[in-house]
Amino acid sequence: MQQVWLGTGWKMNHTSREAEDYATALAMFVRGQSLVTRLFILPPFTALAVVAEILRDTQVMVGAQNMHWQSRGPFTGEISASMLAGCGAQLVELGHSERREHFGETDYSVNAKVHAALDANLVPLACVGEPGIEREFGVADEWVRRQVKIALHNVPSARLTRTIFAYEPVWAIGERGIPATPEQAAEMHRVIRNTLTELYGTGAAREIPILYGGSVNRDNAAGLLKQPNIDGLFVGRAAWQVDDFIQMIQLVENVTARRAYA
Ligand code: PGA
Repeated sequence: MQQVWLGTGWKMNHTSREAEDYATALAMFVRGQSLVTRLFILPPFTALAVVAEILRDTQVMVGAQNMHWQSRGPFTGEISASMLAGCGAQLVELGHSERREHFGETDYSVNAKVHAALDANLVPLACVGEPGIEREFGVADEWVRRQVKIALHNVPSARLTRTIFAYEPVWAIGERGIPATPEQAAEMHRVIRNTLTELYGTGAAREIPILYGGSVNRDNAAGLLKQPNIDGLFVGRAAWQVDDFIQMIQLVENVTARRAYA
C-alpha cells in the first residue's frame, strides 16, 4: 500500500520568526512520535533555510512553493532549484493554481520546472486541477489529463519515482472554495492514475503519490483518505497554525492505522 502523505503550503504567510516557532513546535512533536505519515511543509522562501535547519533529521520534508526553471541568469527576483537545495529544500511545489492565475504559469513552464527540479534532486510536487467552468462544461477529465501529460513531457520513467501530484480543483481552493466531495476527488484521482498508467504502465503509475488539496480540514480529511487513489492531503488554511497541523497529523495517523488493519 502507498504511504500516506500530509503536507501544507503556507502561501504568503509567516515571517521567518513565526516560521521558526512553528517549525520548533513541529520538530518537538514529531521527535516524540513514531509516525507513519510522510510529512512536508512548504514555507515562503524567506523562511526556508531556518525551517529546514530546525527540521533536519526529522521525517518532515521541507520544500519551496515555486522556483525558476533555469539554473541561473538574468531573472530578477527568481530562485533556482540549486538555490533551494542549498537552503535544505527537498521538494518544490510547481504550478499551484494561484501561480497559474496571478503569475502566468502554464503547463509548459510547469514541465520545464519539473525537469529542473529533478535535475537538482528535488521532488517536484506538480499541482493540477480544473477551473469550475471546465467542470460545468463536462471537460474536467480532459483538462486534468492534459495538465498531467504536459507536466511529465519527456520525463523518463526512471525519474518518475521522485514525482508527486496534487489534484487541486481551482473551485475548491481558498476562502471561497467548496471542498470536493470524496467521490468527486476520487473520480479525478482515478483519471490522473489512469493517465499515469497510460504513460508509464501500471507498476510505475502506482508508485506516484496523488494528493488531494482544496479546503481540506479536520472534518473532511478522513472521508477523502478513505477513497481509492487518494494517497494523501495537501492542506492550506487548516494547517497554517502548528497546533492545527499537529491535530491533522494525529487524525491522519489514526485513519491510516485503521486502513492498514481494515
Ligand atoms: P486551502 O488551500 O486548503 O486553504 O483551500 C489549499 C491549497 O491552495 O493548496
